[in-house]
Amino acid sequence: MEILISGSIAYDYLMRFPGRFKDSLLAAGLDKVSLSFLVDDMTKHWGGVAANICYSLALLGIKPHLVGTVGRDFGDYRQHLEDVGVQTTSVRQHDSVFTASFFGNTDLENNQIASFYAGAMGLAHLYSLADVYDGIPDLVVISPNDPKAMIQQSQECRMRGIRFMADPSQQVPRLNGEELLQCIQGAAYLVVNEYEAEVILNKTALSFEALREIVETVIITRGGDGSTIYLAGQVDPIQVDIFKTDYIVNPTGVGDGFRAGLLRGILAGFSLELSAQMGALCATYALEHVGTQNHHFSVEEFINRFRTRFDDHNQLDQLL
Ligand SMILES: Nc1ncnc2c1ncn2[C@@H]1O[C@H](COP(=O)(O)OP(=O)(O)OP(=O)(O)O)[C@@H](O)[C@H]1O
Ligand SMILES: [Mg+2]
Repeated sequence: MEILISGSIAYDYLMRFPGRFKDSLLAAGLDKVSLSFLVDDMTKHWGGVAANICYSLALLGIKPHLVGTVGRDFGDYRQHLEDVGVQTTSVRQHDSVFTASFFGNTDLENNQIASFYAGAMGLAHLYSLADVYDGIPDLVVISPNDPKAMIQQSQECRMRGIRFMADPSQQVPRLNGEELLQCIQGAAYLVVNEYEAEVILNKTALSFEALREIVETVIITRGGDGSTIYLAGQVDPIQVDIFKTDYIVNPTGVGDGFRAGLLRGILAGFSLELSAQMGALCATYALEHVGTQNHHFSVEEFINRFRTRFDDHNQLDQLL
């Protein structure tokens, strides 16, 4: 099975300010802002939605093709992805710019001031899927990216008859109704959280029933309340539990982890319920670590842990 994961590839620079932004903002006034926060901690993490999904899929034994655009600072990131089993020949590098970067500074009250530099991601629309990958993949995942690229690639999948998963997540607030429709129409799967689903319905003016008519399967994630699967032609949805943990460290990347586990199940031909349970466990691994690519597990460890909570009727043995 050949799978392409297209979307953002980024660095996350995370800083901690050992004070309160509020105090500095109040002292300085808001008419003319020129503030510098001296931080006592900075970490740099591998990130970007497409790269995060690829990372966890590789842990689960798949060699996904990562599709996206990066800048001249990608060298060590490429090596890290290849070491874990992600295929990067479909990534396009532009040395005139830097890789997309997220700069987040968090204070003692967990307030955050952040900036996102799109950098090389803004060039993603220069490439079609056919430009970077020969042949017809079994599935393409279209994750948050340069909006023009998301629309073009969805269009390309429809025209070439390629099955795709629409994963517009973080770009939902930015896309208008028409653009959202172009991203999701004809998708084999639409995966969004509750909030994003609401926004999509509002902006496209579709009813939920009408949304279900234009995609095959809708999967809505509900944070700590699990996920809901709406299968084509089936009235009653399927509810899937979370994989409970007492060690929540950082929620960033939980949605990407969920998608990776879900996709591994789909590629194995499992039911969507079992696939979403795999997604729940993979999300939990992400929750238990700072950063979005710092969790590790072998396929065997994943299966053993899965069986402490869910019953797969031994189907997961196929993954070994
Ligand atoms: N507190 C939690 N405990 C256990 N599992 C969780 C928790 N929060 C989320 N998950 C798992 O992750 C899945 C996706 O979570 P959520 O709906 O929060 O995604 P999201 O809003 O897209 O997250 P992200 O911040 O990564 O974009 C859930 O369906 C669930 O399986
Ligand atoms: Mg999300």
